[in-house]
Amino acid sequence: MPKKSVKELAVGGRRVLIRADLNVPLDAQRRITDDRRIREFMPTLNHVIQNGGRPIVMSHLGRPSGDPTKDAEFSLQPVASRLRELLGGKVGFASDCVGPDVEAASQALRDGETLLLENVRFHAAETIIDKAKKNPDKKLTPEQDAKRDTFARALAGLGELYVNDAFGTCHRNHVSMYDVPKLIAPGGRAVGFLVEKELRYLGQALETPKRPFVAILGGSKVSDKIGVIRNLIGRVDQILIGGAMMFTFWAAQGREVGKSLCERDQLELARELLRAAGAKLVLPTDCVVASELKSGVATAVSEGGVPVDQMGLDVGPQTIEAFGGHLRRSGTIVWNGPLGAFETPPFDRGTFAIARDIAEATSRGAISIIGGGDSAAAVDQAGLADRMSHISTGGGASLEFLEGRKFGPLEMLDDR
Ligand code: 3PG
Repeated sequence: MPKKSVKELAVGGRRVLIRADLNVPLDAQRRITDDRRIREFMPTLNHVIQNGGRPIVMSHLGRPSGDPTKDAEFSLQPVASRLRELLGGKVGFASDCVGPDVEAASQALRDGETLLLENVRFHAAETIIDKAKKNPDKKLTPEQDAKRDTFARALAGLGELYVNDAFGTCHRNHVSMYDVPKLIAPGGRAVGFLVEKELRYLGQALETPKRPFVAILGGSKVSDKIGVIRNLIGRVDQILIGGAMMFTFWAAQGREVGKSLCERDQLELARELLRAAGAKLVLPTDCVVASELKSGVATAVSEGGVPVDQMGLDVGPQTIEAFGGHLRRSGTIVWNGPLGAFETPPFDRGTFAIARDIAEATSRGAISIIGGGDSAAAVDQAGLADRMSHISTGGGASLEFLEGRKFGPLEMLDDR
């Protein structure tokens, strides 16, 4: 059932609590190095402002330790500055996300003004649900539950309406994502435009893909991608495998993988996946090898295996050509995970070549969806971001979506 959209909320004159994912990367000087998540959130924020709503924006940034002397680097202050640049001024910043000062600031908001709250993860209660996994009965203790409830009520009390536009955090049942909407009156809880767009692209790929549907999965560990491979096998026409996880599959086929990264404890699982996927699962036939992962090191191309004293660090030219062929014929492409150690040239060639092939396939009419995280960074570095149909703002979230998991926070919102 589709969720109610922010478009359908009567926001005029109301305080609208918006959970965004403004968890952006910062450099050592605390400058934002990639503001995609902020830019992608602007349509929702602008919509609320332009329709007379008073946005109170909540987000997390990073994973603060709980020690205030160390946690200053996790302040959302740089995000407030960027929002001011993008909105042209009227963004207040609250030095906490709950408490009397924040309540006063939220009540004092005027038309056209936005209030950004400080990092919700500065309160341990925000993520306390994660502790349930460590409790013997997998539930929170009554004390933990009480903390969660108190924090949820303090946050929910700031707004009359609630909008979830935090796709990147939709796989977390954290307080601002899951408990706060439960406390907002039914009829007043919706998704924002960013979440709608993510669900549209990723949902269509899983449910009604334009064929052929090709998934490219890279990254270092098969164990991180088992859920995705299992869920995609029945839906895709091909799964192309790259990244270091190719060596676990090669080892499972009895090939020599030398010093390459390889999950020896996952070989049986890799064999099971190979059996289940049959011809749909396409492995590289060659790779680029070197004695170590270092820029400028001597490299060679190796077919069908890796010499004992070498490590495989990228897919090889034959594989790039073959994968390009599949991509050229595709109708839908989902890409998650780099094909090689792309941060260290020359092992970026396979990843960038595939990014170019996807861009070309998109120009010819294919729908291309780039999972967040490293694949999104690679597309940015290749200067091809504008040529993709959709780049997800969620790394972990897009992966869990492709695994077919349901997102608890979305269940808490009103149906359309
Ligand atoms: C992300 O960057 O994937 C999201 O912001 C979620 O962050 P988390 O993994 O720390 O919960």
